[in-house]
Amino acid sequence: MSSLRSDFLQYVAQTSPEPIDLTVEKAEGIYLHTPDGRKVIDFISGICVSNVGHGAPEIVEALQAQAAAYLHTMVYGEAVLSPQVRFAQRLAELLGERFGKVFFSNSGADAVEGALKVAKKFTGRSRIVSCWHAYHGSTHGALSVTGNDELKRGYGPLLPEIDFIHFNQFDELAQITEQTAAIIIEPIQGAAGAIVPAEGYLEAVRKRCDEVGALMILDEIQTGFGRTGPLFAFQDYNFEPDILVLAKALGGGMPMGAILTRTEIISVIQKDPILGLISTFGGHPMCCAAGLAALNKLIDDQLMARVPRLEALLHEHLRHPAIVELRGKGLLYAMIFQDYETADRVRVAALERGLLTIGFLSIDNGLRVSPPLTMTDAEMVAACEVVVAACG
Ligand SMILES: Cc1ncc(COP(=O)(O)O)c(C=O)c1O
Repeated sequence: MSSLRSDFLQYVAQTSPEPIDLTVEKAEGIYLHTPDGRKVIDFISGICVSNVGHGAPEIVEALQAQAAAYLHTMVYGEAVLSPQVRFAQRLAELLGERFGKVFFSNSGADAVEGALKVAKKFTGRSRIVSCWHAYHGSTHGALSVTGNDELKRGYGPLLPEIDFIHFNQFDELAQITEQTAAIIIEPIQGAAGAIVPAEGYLEAVRKRCDEVGALMILDEIQTGFGRTGPLFAFQDYNFEPDILVLAKALGGGMPMGAILTRTEIISVIQKDPILGLISTFGGHPMCCAAGLAALNKLIDDQLMARVPRLEALLHEHLRHPAIVELRGKGLLYAMIFQDYETADRVRVAALERGLLTIGFLSIDNGLRVSPPLTMTDAEMVAACEVVVAACG
């Protein structure tokens, strides 16, 4: 007999041989509701997307108002559309002139692609430096700068002239040279299992870029919008990148990405040739309306102020001998286990007990902790108790 799950397996392209056994009927706050009446704690936020929780009325209302006005009318970057203007203006006001021009894209990988093109055109150079274990997306260019050879197997040839260095290895920064257009780097390596930068490392990257005239592209796709504490992770350190790439929580649950930089840099897409970076759907009015509502909620509800308290609760309550390390920053954490088998056993047991977590792309013995920032103290304690029980 056909069920929604069997139809999913028949008609929807799955991305792994054994997709997780979860059917979502409704999502509200920190919970995913299943058709059989189960309430599952979302401990990953759709991987750092639902930072302001599910079903926020502010976002739903913004989407309804925008849908009533218009959906898509004109390709991105030409006509004046108020949702785009107002969202870009708000981002620019929060970040200042250095990031005062916003190019909206369709996804994180799309933003990475654009940032790489802009860096090459602006510097007139072709080499890109990236980090081992970094993840920057699944399209050809973004995969080329992803530091995980396993993910690339069978998909070559990819982009040439990419130099990989090890995150946190100061001596390897010498590989950023006068031939380098840009380094692309995450402030905290997400897919590698929430690896935080060593003291002074990101500042040293910045210094090296300045020495050789390379641009610093900071991928805050996973770390942005309060995930690690401040609005953007880099604001906790003493440096500023040249280009910021955003996605995930940017759209408040709608699909979009963005490149934020100064006018001088992004202007290269306007001429010689014109239309150097274009997209039919980038900056879709619905996505911009939702994104602005989510950003306003994050700030107005002071959700970022909750992060240190929730992080402290994690350390207090997420303790079990099976968790050999708990690493990360803010609400971007990795629970590290002895091996893949243990991590996967805990993942399955947690889902049975009503909590969703998943693994990381570049390590196999970790599970994600990245719940919505709207979680209450009691919900965080309860979530930790589920994981501890699942550890056995
Ligand atoms: C740090 C980072 N960069 C880029 C991407 C790619 O974003 P998207 O999946 O929207 O293409 C991701 C997605 O997980 C990411 O975590």
